[in-house]
Amino acid sequence: MLFRSKTKVCLVLLQVMDIINQIREQFPALHQQVWGKPLIYLDNAATAQKHRKVLELQQRMSSYTNANIHRALHKLSADATELYEEGREAARSFLGAESREEIIFTSGATAALNLIASSLVRSHLNPGDKVLICEAEHHSNIVPWQLACEASGTSIEVLPVEESGEISLKRLKALLEADDRIRILTVNHISNVLGIINPVAEIVRIAHSKGVLVVIDGAQGVVHDRVSVRELDCDFYVFSGHKIYAPTGIGVLYGRRSILESMPPYMGGGDMVDRVSFSRTTYAPLPLKFEAGTPNFVAAASLKPALEFAASVRDDVRVQEYEKGIVTNMLQELQQIEGLKICGLPKDLSLKVPIFSIDIEGIHPSDVAQMLDKMGIAVRSGLMCAEPLVNLYSDRGLLRVSFAPYNTLAEAETFISKLKLVINMLK
Ligand SMILES: Cc1ncc(COP(=O)(O)O)c(C=O)c1O
Repeated sequence: MLFRSKTKVCLVLLQVMDIINQIREQFPALHQQVWGKPLIYLDNAATAQKHRKVLELQQRMSSYTNANIHRALHKLSADATELYEEGREAARSFLGAESREEIIFTSGATAALNLIASSLVRSHLNPGDKVLICEAEHHSNIVPWQLACEASGTSIEVLPVEESGEISLKRLKALLEADDRIRILTVNHISNVLGIINPVAEIVRIAHSKGVLVVIDGAQGVVHDRVSVRELDCDFYVFSGHKIYAPTGIGVLYGRRSILESMPPYMGGGDMVDRVSFSRTTYAPLPLKFEAGTPNFVAAASLKPALEFAASVRDDVRVQEYEKGIVTNMLQELQQIEGLKICGLPKDLSLKVPIFSIDIEGIHPSDVAQMLDKMGIAVRSGLMCAEPLVNLYSDRGLLRVSFAPYNTLAEAETFISKLKLVINMLK
């Protein structure tokens, strides 16, 4: 598919347009105008639009099933608790985890990574130990480790990425062999800048052979790749609901049960305790030990319809082919634009997902993003919360365009033609 001629690619894309249009119908936000133009939403890596069933459930729960969970004996609380726990079961099934005790709700991927960094460094690292962080990480998978390491006499090391944006397994092996103080490795499944699927299963295998624990930031990975934490054998995997058609304010942390049990709680408060006294407090069993306070139970429940939808499109071979076709089409088009550099081009193009970060010679990405916005096209510009990585490619930030299965071929084509127009105007 990826090396077919442009006409063949467009034909394949057109054949599945019916399905894409059906998917599109399920997202009300896509059917609006911005600055008097039909919205073309290509900022999906920042946040995805919300599925109709998610919006309906949120409305229904906020209007009627509004009672605090896990606390009261009344019917409304029992109903809200049931919906909350159904959200947990949906997350467990989506990630292929063994038990619901291994699924912790947080407010997002950032909160999940902070929880892991803080608790794991305290319980599993000694002064002088190290955390290996991939160079292509989002700030939320860098700063929490810096904070935790600063507080514990431990330190971080960086796993550099190759010029293509890929991780070299050879380099990883060499780094782990050279330094036996590395105890934790943290890496993204798919970078929000590069859009490359990392060989996470291989990475886990190599790290585990050296006794190193592996944390995977799956904020973009869950959207574009199938995940089974059991098959991956990773120790932690996190993602945010809002990038996968669910509301903001909900995130999922998968952790291997034995490790979660040996970690101290991250936050204290209601719901995470067994008994409390001024002399001694004992904690609730998993998963509640890590869920202090009233959670965003409406958003957690909304994960069920969101993840059911996400799994249905992810497993549909026609949608998979469509996504690959968009990648091929976009790369062909972008590569023809003079002075344009694509950041993140793996040797094997089947590892590329439809997230494209670009640098255009002599043109500031924010100028392009602002002009595209006036044409109804939403894209992202700047450092993409991944400053160390983006600085490798450009000192003024990048322009990022990211697709979801509800984006049409016509939208991709309009983006390309408007991009060319804007470049000509700014040159
Ligand atoms: C790869 C990656 N990790 C982590 C995050 C942080 O997610 P959130 O802001 O939802 O916590 C993002 C968000 O852009 C991301 O793309």
